[in-house]
Amino acid sequence: MLTVADLPRCLALAQDRGWPAEEGKWRLLFELGTVWGARDNSGDVVGTAIVTRYGTSLAVLSMVLVAPRHGGQGLGRQLVSQALAATPTRTAALFATEAGRPLYEKFGFTAVEELHTYVGSVPGHATACSRPATPEDIPAIAALDAAIVGAPRGELVRRLLSFATRLHVVELDNDIVGYGAAWRNLGQLMIGPVVAADRRAAATLISDLARGAGGSVRVDLLDHERELRDWVESAGATLRGSTTLMVSGSSAFPGDRGRWFSPAMQALG
Ligand SMILES: CC(C)(COP(=O)(O)OP(=O)(O)OC[C@H]1O[C@@H](n2cnc3c(N)ncnc32)[C@H](O)[C@@H]1OP(=O)(O)O)[C@@H](O)C(=O)NCCC(=O)NCCS
Repeated sequence: MLTVADLPRCLALAQDRGWPAEEGKWRLLFELGTVWGARDNSGDVVGTAIVTRYGTSLAVLSMVLVAPRHGGQGLGRQLVSQALAATPTRTAALFATEAGRPLYEKFGFTAVEELHTYVGSVPGHATACSRPATPEDIPAIAALDAAIVGAPRGELVRRLLSFATRLHVVELDNDIVGYGAAWRNLGQLMIGPVVAADRRAAATLISDLARGAGGSVRVDLLDHERELRDWVESAGATLRGSTTLMVSGSSAFPGDRGRWFSPAMQALG
Protein backbone atom coordinates (compact mmCIF):
# COMPACT_ATOMS: atom_id res chain seq x y z
CA MET A 1 0.00 0.00 0.00
CA LEU A 2 1.28 3.49 -0.79
CA THR A 3 0.93 6.66 1.27
CA VAL A 4 0.69 10.29 0.27
CA ALA A 5 4.50 10.47 0.69
CA ASP A 6 4.63 8.45 -2.56
CA LEU A 7 2.61 11.07 -4.42
CA PRO A 8 5.60 12.48 -6.42
CA ARG A 9 6.51 8.94 -7.54
CA CYS A 10 2.91 8.28 -8.60
CA LEU A 11 2.93 11.49 -10.64
CA ALA A 12 6.20 10.40 -12.28
CA LEU A 13 4.59 7.05 -13.18
CA ALA A 14 1.54 8.80 -14.65
CA GLN A 15 3.80 10.99 -16.80
CA ASP A 16 5.77 7.94 -17.88
CA ARG A 17 2.45 6.63 -19.28
CA GLY A 18 1.71 9.95 -21.00
CA TRP A 19 -0.90 10.94 -18.40
CA PRO A 20 -0.78 14.43 -16.87
CA ALA A 21 0.61 15.02 -13.36
CA GLU A 22 -2.71 15.77 -11.68
CA GLU A 23 -1.49 16.42 -8.17
CA GLY A 24 -4.71 17.73 -6.59
CA LYS A 25 -6.70 14.81 -7.94
CA TRP A 26 -4.20 12.20 -6.69
CA ARG A 27 -4.13 13.90 -3.30
CA LEU A 28 -7.92 13.58 -2.99
CA LEU A 29 -7.72 9.93 -4.09
CA PHE A 30 -5.09 9.27 -1.40
CA GLU A 31 -7.51 10.79 1.15
CA LEU A 32 -10.61 8.90 0.06
CA GLY A 33 -9.22 5.64 -1.24
CA THR A 34 -6.59 2.95 -0.78
CA VAL A 35 -3.63 3.21 -3.12
CA TRP A 36 -2.01 -0.09 -4.04
CA GLY A 37 1.42 0.08 -5.60
CA ALA A 38 4.45 -1.83 -6.79
CA ARG A 39 8.03 -0.60 -6.61
CA ASP A 40 11.19 -1.56 -8.43
CA ASN A 41 14.52 -2.17 -6.70
CA SER A 42 15.35 1.54 -6.60
CA GLY A 43 12.07 2.38 -4.83
CA ASP A 44 10.39 3.95 -7.86
CA VAL A 45 6.66 3.30 -8.12
CA VAL A 46 6.13 1.20 -11.26
CA GLY A 47 2.47 0.27 -10.83
CA THR A 48 -0.65 1.58 -9.08
CA ALA A 49 -4.33 0.71 -8.57
CA ILE A 50 -6.63 2.79 -6.37
CA VAL A 51 -9.86 1.58 -4.89
CA THR A 52 -12.38 3.93 -3.26
CA ARG A 53 -15.03 2.22 -1.22
CA TYR A 54 -18.54 3.57 -0.56
CA GLY A 55 -19.89 1.43 2.27
CA THR A 56 -20.61 -2.19 1.37
CA SER A 57 -22.43 -1.34 -1.86
CA LEU A 58 -19.89 0.10 -4.25
CA ALA A 59 -16.15 0.32 -4.83
CA VAL A 60 -14.63 2.32 -7.67
CA LEU A 61 -11.32 1.23 -9.15
CA SER A 62 -9.03 3.82 -10.74
CA MET A 63 -5.49 4.83 -11.68
CA VAL A 64 -4.57 1.35 -12.89
CA LEU A 65 -1.14 2.14 -14.30
CA VAL A 66 1.93 0.09 -15.05
CA ALA A 67 5.22 1.62 -16.22
CA PRO A 68 5.82 0.73 -19.89
CA ARG A 69 9.11 -1.02 -19.02
CA HIS A 70 7.19 -3.40 -16.71
CA GLY A 71 4.19 -3.89 -19.01
CA GLY A 72 2.92 -7.29 -20.12
CA GLN A 73 4.41 -9.11 -17.14
CA GLY A 74 1.29 -9.55 -15.04
CA LEU A 75 1.76 -6.52 -12.79
CA GLY A 76 -1.53 -4.88 -13.81
CA ARG A 77 -3.41 -8.11 -13.10
CA GLN A 78 -1.68 -8.49 -9.73
CA LEU A 79 -2.49 -4.93 -8.62
CA VAL A 80 -6.14 -5.13 -9.67
CA SER A 81 -6.49 -8.51 -7.99
CA GLN A 82 -4.98 -7.17 -4.75
CA ALA A 83 -7.16 -4.04 -4.76
CA LEU A 84 -10.41 -5.93 -5.41
CA ALA A 85 -9.70 -8.72 -2.92
CA ALA A 86 -9.10 -6.21 -0.14
CA THR A 87 -12.34 -4.35 -0.87
CA PRO A 88 -15.30 -6.71 -1.01
CA THR A 89 -18.44 -4.78 -2.01
CA ARG A 90 -21.65 -5.78 -3.82
CA THR A 91 -20.55 -3.97 -6.96
CA ALA A 92 -17.20 -2.78 -8.27
CA ALA A 93 -17.18 -0.18 -11.03
CA LEU A 94 -14.66 1.73 -13.12
CA PHE A 95 -14.31 3.83 -16.22
CA ALA A 96 -12.05 1.93 -18.59
CA THR A 97 -9.74 3.20 -21.27
CA GLU A 98 -9.38 1.15 -24.42
CA ALA A 99 -6.05 -0.15 -23.04
CA GLY A 100 -7.60 -1.17 -19.72
CA ARG A 101 -10.68 -3.04 -20.98
CA PRO A 102 -9.06 -6.41 -21.77
CA LEU A 103 -7.54 -6.52 -18.29
CA TYR A 104 -10.86 -5.74 -16.56
CA GLU A 105 -12.75 -8.28 -18.67
CA LYS A 106 -10.47 -10.94 -17.18
CA PHE A 107 -11.85 -9.97 -13.76
CA GLY A 108 -15.46 -10.33 -14.92
CA PHE A 109 -16.14 -6.63 -15.49
CA THR A 110 -18.72 -6.00 -18.21
CA ALA A 111 -19.42 -2.82 -20.17
CA VAL A 112 -22.50 -0.85 -19.12
CA GLU A 113 -22.33 2.44 -20.98
CA GLU A 114 -19.93 4.91 -22.56
CA LEU A 115 -18.92 8.16 -20.87
CA HIS A 116 -18.06 11.01 -23.21
CA THR A 117 -15.63 13.82 -22.38
CA TYR A 118 -16.50 17.29 -23.71
CA VAL A 119 -14.03 20.16 -23.57
CA GLY A 120 -14.41 23.78 -24.63
CA SER A 121 -16.97 26.37 -23.87
CA VAL A 122 -20.08 25.21 -22.08
CA PRO A 123 -23.34 27.23 -21.87
CA GLY A 124 -22.48 29.45 -18.97
CA HIS A 125 -25.26 32.00 -18.52
CA ALA A 126 -26.47 32.52 -14.98
CA THR A 127 -29.88 30.98 -14.60
CA ALA A 128 -30.21 31.96 -10.95
CA CYS A 129 -31.88 28.60 -10.38
CA SER A 130 -29.05 27.05 -8.43
CA ARG A 131 -27.28 28.49 -5.41
CA PRO A 132 -23.96 27.87 -3.68
CA ALA A 133 -24.18 25.10 -1.10
CA THR A 134 -23.44 25.81 2.56
CA PRO A 135 -22.04 23.39 5.17
CA GLU A 136 -25.62 23.04 6.49
CA ASP A 137 -26.68 21.56 3.12
CA ILE A 138 -24.18 18.69 3.31
CA PRO A 139 -26.47 16.12 5.03
CA ALA A 140 -29.25 16.74 2.47
CA ILE A 141 -26.77 16.60 -0.45
CA ALA A 142 -25.27 13.37 0.90
CA ALA A 143 -28.75 11.83 1.27
CA LEU A 144 -29.70 12.79 -2.30
CA ASP A 145 -26.36 11.49 -3.61
CA ALA A 146 -26.78 8.17 -1.75
CA ALA A 147 -30.32 7.72 -3.11
CA ILE A 148 -29.25 8.38 -6.71
CA VAL A 149 -25.81 6.75 -6.76
CA GLY A 150 -26.97 3.85 -4.58
CA ALA A 151 -24.06 4.03 -2.14
CA PRO A 152 -23.11 6.20 0.84
CA ARG A 153 -20.63 8.82 -0.39
CA GLY A 154 -20.91 11.24 2.53
CA GLU A 155 -17.15 11.56 2.90
CA LEU A 156 -16.73 12.51 -0.76
CA VAL A 157 -19.60 15.02 -0.53
CA ARG A 158 -18.04 16.59 2.59
CA ARG A 159 -14.62 16.85 0.89
CA LEU A 160 -16.20 18.62 -2.09
CA LEU A 161 -16.91 21.63 0.13
CA SER A 162 -13.19 22.45 0.26
CA PHE A 163 -11.92 20.57 -2.83
CA ALA A 164 -14.36 22.10 -5.31
CA THR A 165 -14.20 25.68 -6.54
CA ARG A 166 -17.98 25.70 -6.62
CA LEU A 167 -20.57 23.44 -5.04
CA HIS A 168 -24.15 24.28 -6.03
CA VAL A 169 -27.61 22.94 -5.26
CA VAL A 170 -30.96 23.16 -7.03
CA GLU A 171 -34.05 23.29 -4.83
CA LEU A 172 -37.72 22.60 -5.36
CA ASP A 173 -40.17 23.53 -2.60
CA ASN A 174 -37.22 23.88 -0.19
CA ASP A 175 -35.95 20.37 -0.97
CA ILE A 176 -32.56 19.86 -2.58
CA VAL A 177 -33.26 17.99 -5.83
CA GLY A 178 -29.87 18.32 -7.46
CA TYR A 179 -26.28 19.21 -6.77
CA GLY A 180 -23.11 19.69 -8.73
CA ALA A 181 -19.50 20.75 -8.30
CA ALA A 182 -16.76 22.35 -10.36
CA TRP A 183 -13.08 21.92 -9.49
CA ARG A 184 -9.78 22.98 -11.00
CA ASN A 185 -7.45 20.47 -12.58
CA LEU A 186 -4.28 21.79 -14.22
CA GLY A 187 -5.89 25.08 -15.17
CA GLN A 188 -9.05 23.50 -16.50
CA LEU A 189 -12.46 23.79 -14.83
CA MET A 190 -13.85 20.29 -14.39
CA ILE A 191 -17.60 19.96 -13.86
CA GLY A 192 -18.67 16.94 -11.81
CA PRO A 193 -20.43 15.43 -10.08
CA VAL A 194 -23.78 16.39 -11.51
CA VAL A 195 -26.55 14.50 -9.72
CA ALA A 196 -30.09 15.79 -10.20
CA ALA A 197 -33.77 14.90 -10.34
CA ASP A 198 -34.06 15.66 -14.04
CA ARG A 199 -32.23 16.93 -17.11
CA ARG A 200 -33.44 20.50 -16.62
CA ALA A 201 -31.89 20.66 -13.15
CA ALA A 202 -28.71 19.08 -14.51
CA ALA A 203 -28.47 21.70 -17.29
CA THR A 204 -29.05 24.47 -14.76
CA LEU A 205 -26.22 23.17 -12.61
CA ILE A 206 -23.82 22.81 -15.55
CA SER A 207 -24.61 26.38 -16.71
CA ASP A 208 -24.21 27.92 -13.30
CA LEU A 209 -21.04 25.98 -12.49
CA ALA A 210 -19.42 26.93 -15.81
CA ARG A 211 -20.30 30.62 -15.50
CA GLY A 212 -17.25 32.86 -15.59
CA ALA A 213 -14.88 29.92 -15.98
CA GLY A 214 -12.54 32.10 -18.03
CA GLY A 215 -11.03 29.25 -20.02
CA SER A 216 -11.55 25.69 -20.98
CA VAL A 217 -14.30 23.70 -19.25
CA ARG A 218 -14.59 19.92 -19.19
CA VAL A 219 -17.71 17.92 -18.50
CA ASP A 220 -18.08 14.13 -18.83
CA LEU A 221 -21.60 12.97 -19.74
CA LEU A 222 -23.04 9.47 -19.84
CA ASP A 223 -24.06 8.17 -23.26
CA HIS A 224 -27.80 7.97 -22.53
CA GLU A 225 -27.89 11.74 -22.04
CA ARG A 226 -28.21 12.49 -25.75
CA GLU A 227 -30.06 15.82 -25.27
CA LEU A 228 -27.58 17.19 -22.75
CA ARG A 229 -24.68 16.11 -24.94
CA ASP A 230 -26.23 17.84 -27.99
CA TRP A 231 -26.79 20.99 -25.88
CA VAL A 232 -23.17 21.06 -24.68
CA GLU A 233 -21.89 20.45 -28.22
CA SER A 234 -24.10 23.18 -29.68
CA ALA A 235 -22.48 25.63 -27.25
CA GLY A 236 -19.04 24.89 -28.68
CA ALA A 237 -17.66 22.05 -26.59
CA THR A 238 -16.08 19.24 -28.56
CA LEU A 239 -15.93 15.52 -27.90
CA ARG A 240 -12.42 14.70 -26.72
CA GLY A 241 -12.75 10.99 -26.08
CA SER A 242 -14.76 8.31 -24.37
CA THR A 243 -14.28 5.68 -21.71
CA THR A 244 -16.49 2.74 -20.77
CA LEU A 245 -18.35 2.34 -17.50
CA MET A 246 -17.78 -1.28 -16.47
CA VAL A 247 -19.15 -3.14 -13.45
CA SER A 248 -18.60 -6.48 -11.80
CA GLY A 249 -20.42 -8.20 -8.99
CA SER A 250 -24.11 -7.47 -8.73
CA SER A 251 -25.56 -7.53 -12.23
CA ALA A 252 -27.50 -4.30 -11.70
CA PHE A 253 -25.61 -1.05 -11.21
CA PRO A 254 -26.66 0.43 -7.87
CA GLY A 255 -28.80 3.54 -7.78
CA ASP A 256 -30.54 5.40 -10.57
CA ARG A 257 -28.24 6.05 -13.51
CA GLY A 258 -30.98 8.16 -15.15
CA ARG A 259 -30.38 10.87 -12.54
CA TRP A 260 -26.61 10.49 -12.32
CA PHE A 261 -25.47 12.75 -15.14
CA SER A 262 -21.76 13.13 -14.52
CA PRO A 263 -19.24 11.49 -12.15
CA ALA A 264 -17.30 13.52 -9.57
CA MET A 265 -14.31 12.45 -11.64
CA GLN A 266 -13.79 9.21 -13.53
CA ALA A 267 -11.57 7.95 -10.73
CA LEU A 268 -14.31 8.37 -8.10
CA GLY A 269 -17.51 7.55 -9.94
C1 LIG B 1 -3.60 -1.48 -18.84
C2 LIG B 1 -2.30 -1.74 -18.07
C3 LIG B 1 -2.48 -1.32 -16.63
C4 LIG B 1 -2.02 -3.25 -18.15
O1 LIG B 1 -0.91 -3.54 -17.29
P1 LIG B 1 0.05 -4.79 -17.54
O2 LIG B 1 0.87 -5.01 -16.33
O3 LIG B 1 0.77 -4.60 -18.82
O4 LIG B 1 -1.03 -5.97 -17.72
P2 LIG B 1 -0.77 -7.48 -17.36
O5 LIG B 1 0.57 -7.90 -17.88
O6 LIG B 1 -1.05 -7.73 -15.91
O7 LIG B 1 -1.90 -8.16 -18.22
C5 LIG B 1 -3.09 -8.63 -17.60
C6 LIG B 1 -3.90 -9.39 -18.60
O8 LIG B 1 -4.56 -8.51 -19.50
C7 LIG B 1 -4.16 -8.77 -20.83
N1 LIG B 1 -3.95 -7.48 -21.46
C8 LIG B 1 -3.39 -6.38 -20.91
N2 LIG B 1 -3.38 -5.38 -21.81
C9 LIG B 1 -3.94 -5.88 -22.92
C10 LIG B 1 -4.23 -5.34 -24.21
N3 LIG B 1 -3.95 -4.07 -24.51
N4 LIG B 1 -4.83 -6.13 -25.12
C11 LIG B 1 -5.16 -7.43 -24.82
N5 LIG B 1 -4.90 -7.99 -23.63
C12 LIG B 1 -4.32 -7.22 -22.70
C13 LIG B 1 -2.88 -9.55 -20.76
O9 LIG B 1 -2.74 -10.40 -21.86
C14 LIG B 1 -3.04 -10.31 -19.47
O10 LIG B 1 -3.80 -11.49 -19.67
P3 LIG B 1 -3.29 -12.89 -19.04
O11 LIG B 1 -2.98 -12.61 -17.59
O12 LIG B 1 -4.43 -13.81 -19.24
O13 LIG B 1 -2.06 -13.22 -19.83
C15 LIG B 1 -1.10 -0.98 -18.72
O14 LIG B 1 -1.04 -1.31 -20.08
C16 LIG B 1 -1.18 0.52 -18.60
O15 LIG B 1 -0.72 1.11 -17.63
N6 LIG B 1 -1.78 1.19 -19.62
C17 LIG B 1 -1.88 2.65 -19.64
C18 LIG B 1 -2.80 3.18 -18.59
C19 LIG B 1 -4.22 2.71 -18.76
O16 LIG B 1 -4.88 2.91 -19.79
N7 LIG B 1 -4.75 2.08 -17.69
C20 LIG B 1 -6.12 1.64 -17.62
C21 LIG B 1 -6.92 2.73 -17.00
S1 LIG B 1 -8.65 2.36 -17.06
